[in-house]
Amino acid sequence: MAKVVFADQGIEIEVPVGTNLLAAAQEAHAPEGHACGGVCACSTCHVYVDQGLELLSEADEDEEDILDKAFDVRPSSRLGCQAKIEREGVVVVRISRESLDAYYNEHPDEPRPG
Ligand code: FES
Repeated sequence: MAKVVFADQGIEIEVPVGTNLLAAAQEAHAPEGHACGGVCACSTCHVYVDQGLELLSEADEDEEDILDKAFDVRPSSRLGCQAKIEREGVVVVRISRESLDAYYNEHPDEPRPG
């Protein structure tokens, strides 16, 4: 198992190795957007991996292409739907502004904190 921590929301979840970060967010009810449904065709699942980047699958060319068009891309940027946990450990994630915006647009009934 691996632990995924959504640092800004104070949410933690244990998931099996093989889970991607978007699936972990959905299971944990963390507000990560996913406009394309997890098929690497948008950037609304953009997250920053503050810790545990080395536990994740490498970004492939398709993911890099999408991230090229994302907002505020950093060295720690990944697409949640493409970043699969490959080793046990702790992954600390911060959900990007564009991902939060997408999530709350898709879930107008959920109050947005702060
Ligand atoms: S949900 Fe669209 S690229 Fe991840």
